[in-house]
Amino acid sequence: MTDSIGMVIMAAGKGTRMKHSLPKPLIPISGRRMMDFPLLESLFFAEKQGLNSHLYTVLGHQSQQIENHLKNYFPQVKTVLQREQKGTGDAIRSYLEAVPEAADHAYTLILCADTPLMTHRELEKIYQEMKTQNLDAVCASFKTDNPEGYGRIVSSKNGMGFKIIEEKDANSTEKLINEVNSGLYIVKTDYLMKKVSLLDNKNASGEFYLTDIFDEGEKVSSLCFSSADQFMGVNDLLQLSIADRKLKKRKAKELLQQGIYIMDPSHTYIDDTVSIGPGSIVSPNVFLRGNCVIGSNVMIDAGCVISDCEIGDNAKIFSHSHLEKARVGYESHIGPFARLREGTCLDQKVKIGNFVETKKVNLEKGVKVSHLSYVGDAEVGENTNIGCGFITCNYDGKNKHKTVIGKNCFIGSDSQTIAPVTIGDNCFVASGSSIGQSMPDGSFSISRGRQETKEGMAKRFLKRPS
Ligand code: UD1
Ligand code: CA
Repeated sequence: MTDSIGMVIMAAGKGTRMKHSLPKPLIPISGRRMMDFPLLESLFFAEKQGLNSHLYTVLGHQSQQIENHLKNYFPQVKTVLQREQKGTGDAIRSYLEAVPEAADHAYTLILCADTPLMTHRELEKIYQEMKTQNLDAVCASFKTDNPEGYGRIVSSKNGMGFKIIEEKDANSTEKLINEVNSGLYIVKTDYLMKKVSLLDNKNASGEFYLTDIFDEGEKVSSLCFSSADQFMGVNDLLQLSIADRKLKKRKAKELLQQGIYIMDPSHTYIDDTVSIGPGSIVSPNVFLRGNCVIGSNVMIDAGCVISDCEIGDNAKIFSHSHLEKARVGYESHIGPFARLREGTCLDQKVKIGNFVETKKVNLEKGVKVSHLSYVGDAEVGENTNIGCGFITCNYDGKNKHKTVIGKNCFIGSDSQTIAPVTIGDNCFVASGSSIGQSMPDGSFSISRGRQETKEGMAKRFLKRPS
């Protein structure tokens, strides 16, 4: 028979210690929102184990914003409201009261929204412990040199059960205990319902602590994990930066195992959301953010910042290039010092050289823009070569206009198009030209003042020290 499990993530707390305008569950970390990690891992756990399950989040503080996020990205996740944030015990009481079918699930898995490093592996382990030992409740614990802020695991003297004493309630001896509560639990639902109905708030915080469901003499156990990393709680910005670093190291390690050479993992910043194909190389000080899909055998040189981009196989992104919401085709070369802005779409074998900026452009196969240019709101056909210092003058102070350049054109250096304008296929624009009128296929345009040379006249203008 398939086991059934009710899963619930507590996300109603204020997160005051973060000193952040966003509710804590929505604070960005490694390309996701903090709560996305426990959501994804618990959904994956239930799927992998073939469990009949539901997933709820308990919301309270800034619940509307969190609900919007869930609607957009996790439509299968349901929510309940905890009216007042009276503690983790009260959060679970709100869930049990609002969701009658919670009682139909044999087990209840409880997670916090602020432990982004936790994975399905820890969930599997406590679930197995629960089943093999036939316990009423299991709490995942870990040992740490710095137990501050965590609930301490106080073992029972007669060997059966244990208690969790919160930091604020701990005496000086209890404070020295280095085995702490991770905030991850699996509980038999009957036991949970009974214990939650008995909770009180007679403690230093005046809160209903969920941790009080554990007690001496009960069939409960704490499963102590050897590594603390994955249970790290994020309560302030210092912990956010540490957790982010750990997630990025984990990501780099995964990529290295998949055949992507991350030269210096501790100085490379790759979001959890990024995918990279094998054979690619990432140099130090590179940031890969958001939804990046990077192909195989791609070279990303030092200091590049790439956000929400699609990069084709064999592309090379030379150092210090900045790419945002752009598509780079197969074997294209970008940079060094290039800036590809939103809506840049490059076909295969395109070359964008140093100090070139592009925005909302479609450059077809083999186009070259090698030096010092701005190309915006434009389409450029196959194999056209754009010389140094070219500008699409796309803005008239009010509206943006389009430049269309055909295939196999040669656009001389230091020229510009005054959009809207169309240049046909196989055209030649002489250097230093301002093209404000459209050019038919195969035409040549030159628009610059004629050169006059007066022999011997330079001395009238050369200013020499007297
Ligand atoms: C909690 C545990 C502590 C454990 C630590 C692990 C309790 C009493 N303490 O402490 O033993 O070591 O997590 O990280 O449970 N929340 C609600 N409603 C509330 C209060 C909190 O939904 O009324 C949610 C928060 O949004 C958060 C989670 O519960 O996601 C934990 O709350 P938090 O205040 O961070 O608890 P800690 O002090 O870290
Ligand atoms: Ca916490």
